[in-house]
Amino acid sequence: MSKIAVIGSGTMGNGIAHLFAQHGHDVALVDVSDAALQKAIATITANLERQVKKGTLAPEAVAQVLSRIHTTSDLQAAKEASLVIEAASENPTVKFELFAKLDQLCGPDAILASNTSSISITEIAARTKRPAQVIGMHFMNPVPMMQLVEIIRGHATSDATTRTVAELSAALGKTPVEVNDYPGFVSNRVLLPMINEAIFCVMEGVATPEAIDTVMKLGMAHPMGPLQLADFIGLDVCLAILNVMHEGLGDDKYRPCPLLKKMVAAGYLGRKSGRGFYDYRKV
Ligand code: NAI
Repeated sequence: MSKIAVIGSGTMGNGIAHLFAQHGHDVALVDVSDAALQKAIATITANLERQVKKGTLAPEAVAQVLSRIHTTSDLQAAKEASLVIEAASENPTVKFELFAKLDQLCGPDAILASNTSSISITEIAARTKRPAQVIGMHFMNPVPMMQLVEIIRGHATSDATTRTVAELSAALGKTPVEVNDYPGFVSNRVLLPMINEAIFCVMEGVATPEAIDTVMKLGMAHPMGPLQLADFIGLDVCLAILNVMHEGLGDDKYRPCPLLKKMVAAGYLGRKSGRGFYDYRKV
């Protein structure tokens, strides 16, 4: 499987393109925004140079890896790919339209994967005529560093598709873990209720964000506290995932904390907006 297309070149898309190109694959990196494509290449270049500095990549590999990544705003570039990984914005309409188009465009054997964190793979697959070849390939941020790929089987995903994608993930040096398609999959189903509970603790005055994060870091050996992690993920993203689980599973244990809703409404989105549970603005 040498030709890959990555749709969406944001935070996740640039990391996925980097990973595949570093493992010898030709990558078509597609985005509707030229600015996003330019930023992606700058980010990939900076990350490759960091690997060279750390001694984990030969200096001459930087140009080789970059030469395998072809950026374009034309979705037609996905036509030749045997695997397409969609990492576009987390919006069901965007993903449903993309999969319907990709299904028409790509060869009959191509596998169509989504990196979605919360949208149903089964619903995405239903927009195509090849649901057996549609699967979730959920990479973690930052992609080149994180070991896990959560492989999500939709209701109709075949064993052959699952095997191919798991083997490919292992060949990329990752550890694939197979899960079934239910709201939040496993990663977010387990993580988000913990983050939500930490936010309830802040709202109810149980402890400060610093105290809660310290308890979880020192007491539970978590590398990052839940509120620091929420700021890193983005509070708007946390809220959107909790809403999907609350609606999809119908259980009030997934109801988003009112403080989380309030912070998102106020534009306190975490690192990316400069303020969340912590202040990231340079003073
Ligand atoms: P992002 O907002 O950084 O990037 C999304 C990119 O998709 C943007 O550059 C946008 O221009 C592009 N895009 C939008 N519509 C498009 C279309 N029709 N065709 C081509 N490109 C299009 O988003 P991010 O964070 O990279 O997330 C991408 C996906 O990965 C989402 O489904 C998200 O849930 C998932 N994800 C995100 C993680 C994270 O930590 N950021 C972790 C794991 C999964």
